[in-house]
Amino acid sequence: MEITLKIKRFIAKKGKESFYQEYRLEADPNDRLLDALVFVQTHLDGSLGFRKSCAHGVCGSDAMIVNGTERLACKTLIKDLVGAAASAESRTITVEPLQNLPVMKDLIVDQTRFFENFRAVKPFFISDTLPAKGERTQSIEERAKYDDATKCILCAACYSSCPVIRGKNPDFIGPAAIVNAARFIFDGRDTGFKDRLPALDDPNGVWPCENHFNCTKVCPREIKVTKNINMSKKAITDFKENGSTL
Ligand code: SF4
Ligand code: FES
Repeated sequence: MEITLKIKRFIAKKGKESFYQEYRLEADPNDRLLDALVFVQTHLDGSLGFRKSCAHGVCGSDAMIVNGTERLACKTLIKDLVGAAASAESRTITVEPLQNLPVMKDLIVDQTRFFENFRAVKPFFISDTLPAKGERTQSIEERAKYDDATKCILCAACYSSCPVIRGKNPDFIGPAAIVNAARFIFDGRDTGFKDRLPALDDPNGVWPCENHFNCTKVCPREIKVTKNINMSKKAITDFKENGSTL
């Protein structure tokens, strides 16, 4: 079928204004949006900029806004975007860069702030003890406490969708950083809670979240993002009141 990609473009040396450019191309309904973008870049316009790497929903590189919603281009089928629309005009797919991060070129955003926030929560295993013997084992039940938070691929779709960052507080640390803190907060082997507290128990830490649930809706890994944020808030409160998070 013939489709039209309407892509929001930004080319710094052409000036500060972004503009929409349309490309018509043939696509199979079972093609992914990423296939269509690669076709445009390879055959129609080599100047189009976008990120991709794994092409299989693992690396998180190709998050973008598709018909108004954050999605991974490699996990989005053309048929799910255009349905049974009759003409190429009506089979138009609008593609825009993520929000809440500065656009560098076309669909490529500057992820510096996103990864600064991620690093601020010390998203790695911290322990003040050595394992007694061999590996630090844990039960299936203990592992289940943070399993959801292990699935994050750092695509920044949640960060883009957050109305708090867009409106009231652009310095809010954001959903992904909190999910990656939760990965370790609820791992009973980790003892780094106090090390993460300065970033989390801060006016720009967990507290600005207003439970809009946008992050949970757009997460391509179906992580219960808002739930992880609220669990982290409770862990901080419990820690301050009782000296324990669990
Ligand atoms: S929590 Fe979900 S939406 Fe946010 S960065 Fe991780 S995978 Fe992407
Ligand atoms: S290219 Fe890796 S997640 Fe889409």
